[in-house]
Amino acid sequence: MSATHVPEGDSGSRDLRIAVLGKGAIGGPVAAAIKAGHVTGARLVAVVDSQGVTTPDDSPISLGELNRRADLVVEAAGQKVLAEIGPRVIAEGLDLLVLSIGAMADENLRRTLSSGPGRLYLSTGAIGGLDLLRAVADAGTLEQVTIATTKQPRTLLQDWMDDEQRAAILDSSGRTEVLRSTPQRVATAFPKSANVAMAVATAADDSAKVEAVVYADPTCTVTTHELSVRSSTGNYWFQIKNLPSPDNPATSSLVPFAVLRALQDLAGRRETLI
Ligand SMILES: NC(=O)c1ccc[n+]([C@@H]2O[C@H](COP(=O)([O-])OP(=O)(O)OC[C@H]3O[C@@H](n4cnc5c(N)ncnc54)[C@H](O)[C@@H]3O)[C@@H](O)[C@H]2O)c1
Repeated sequence: MSATHVPEGDSGSRDLRIAVLGKGAIGGPVAAAIKAGHVTGARLVAVVDSQGVTTPDDSPISLGELNRRADLVVEAAGQKVLAEIGPRVIAEGLDLLVLSIGAMADENLRRTLSSGPGRLYLSTGAIGGLDLLRAVADAGTLEQVTIATTKQPRTLLQDWMDDEQRAAILDSSGRTEVLRSTPQRVATAFPKSANVAMAVATAADDSAKVEAVVYADPTCTVTTHELSVRSSTGNYWFQIKNLPSPDNPATSSLVPFAVLRALQDLAGRRETLI
């Protein structure tokens, strides 16, 4: 079922029926805004968190019921949940808007989620410039891309790090390189902090031309993404400085608004930038 499909027997309602997976820094405000009617032509039908699935009037329903209640699921619950629930959502013909794009580093998962019949949408989330990068990639003129992300040290600590690595990050006195690698490796190493690396790799359509870098900086009060694009049709440099969400310092506070913008487009905005 595509996002603009009108379900048979749905009394002519053309509303895009949305379920939100995750109730955190992104899912919480997104669900609240849809429920409050801020996305014209869309309706909140369920919110899913680790406790279960509830309708907007707080009635519990089963995950299986989403199939007939929703047209589109917004995933804002993390890579693990996406890998568990995403394939079923797509296989049942619901569309899926993914926030945890870092999970696209797993080629098998990506193939499954792209194989329909539901459509897979990847949120542009915390970063800009992807429209231009896609055009450069399609022009066939792309030479090299670097996406460098600088974050507060404590947001970069990971379970796989040993004490020495953790101390090196926490004790950094200025901007310190933590990892420079392929977007896949960086997104896998920092599952909550490097979604943008896979967003850039997706827009570039050729991971071999993309280098991702993660820096820790105790002096940074904002999360910084620097996107440098070298091509034979032009050179581009974007710097994005995002304030962290008060609910989750690993997430930028702007992200829910990027999601709501996308949902408004999918719900049939009459004029849009594409
Ligand atoms: N694409 C981007 O630019 C971008 C930007 C920021 C964050 N993200 C990603 O978006 C995701 C959500 O970020 P956030 O800041 O809202 O996280 P968060 O930790 O604030 O919220 C996660 C939510 O998921 C819920 N959850 C946990 N297990 C669940 C389960 N089994 N089923 C359903 N829900 C479950 C939690 O209860 C919580 O409400 C993360 O993966 C994050 O890395 C992407």
